[in-house]
Amino acid sequence: MQEKLREITENALKKIKDAKSINEVYAVNTAVLGKNGELSLLMRGLRDLRAEERPQVGALMNKCRDDINNALHLREKELLDEALDEKIASEKIDVTTPVKPFQYGTKHPIEQIQQELIDYFVAQGFEVKDGTDVETDYYCFEALNIPKDHPARDAQDTFYFDPERILRVHTSATQVRTMETQQPPIKMISTGKVYRVDEIDATHSPIFHQFEILVVDEHLTMGDLKGILEGLVKYLFGEKTQIRMRPSFFPFTEPSVEVDATCPYCGGKGCSICKNSGFIELLGAGMVNPKVLENCNIDSSKYTGLAAGLGLDRMAMIRYGITDIRELYDNDINFLKQFK
Ligand code: DAH
Repeated sequence: MQEKLREITENALKKIKDAKSINEVYAVNTAVLGKNGELSLLMRGLRDLRAEERPQVGALMNKCRDDINNALHLREKELLDEALDEKIASEKIDVTTPVKPFQYGTKHPIEQIQQELIDYFVAQGFEVKDGTDVETDYYCFEALNIPKDHPARDAQDTFYFDPERILRVHTSATQVRTMETQQPPIKMISTGKVYRVDEIDATHSPIFHQFEILVVDEHLTMGDLKGILEGLVKYLFGEKTQIRMRPSFFPFTEPSVEVDATCPYCGGKGCSICKNSGFIELLGAGMVNPKVLENCNIDSSKYTGLAAGLGLDRMAMIRYGITDIRELYDNDINFLKQFK
């Protein structure tokens, strides 16, 4: 019996040592230590031995079983470690391989100017008001003193969802929304996309961007308006820039002005950018029409307002010498990254 025991053990230990896979290890386990395994069967024969032999043979059997068991666990661990090492090696990433450089975007020129203007006005205590792209006829036209049959509507034709709901034609709608909910003093700005039914060409786009300024308080005059706009233009185009106000017409301001700035390229001498006039058209502005104040329940005998609206696309084009508005919307990263 002892001879048999040694044979089984040696055999098992050799097979374990030679096992090439984890399954081979498990197979040895079953064949030797399993319920009907060689060693298990042999151990069952222990009871047939004489009583005085049993303890010694029994101890030997236990030792053999433990040796085999240990060998099994050891080999199992070795094989698992090998498999893991192989997996790690096969999945290894070479972090030194050169990668394609990542293309970082830049702030869009319109966004840049928008942010600069917001910073400028917020520093002077203006509140930033959000508007919505979908507006109503009332806020875009009626409340701003542009009734249904008014010819000013032709220049501001927009996209209609239905007779009441439209895409806003200007940020001036936000003036009304602000004055309706807030009594003076009011100092607000608002900015965003606006929409018009316009054929696309070098200077027209059906979507563009505006920046709106509104101040309502007691005793405001055209002098205040001029001061604000002069500061703004110098901030955008440099200290030497001068402004010129020309009489104009907007239904929501009275009087109304068109504001030009001395050309930032030639300083007013005349060049191709300003078409030799020395000036470039910048924005529309005026004193808020008392009718608009009254439409918003603001006492026009006590308060006056000043307002202005400028096109951000135009500002970006002037600032960066962009001659075709379409380039602002093509989103060609190579074009846009020039304007860091
Ligand atoms: N809303 C005008 C437009 O889109 C621009 C404008 C002119 C805004 C005069 C104003 C203003 O606030 O006072 O053409």
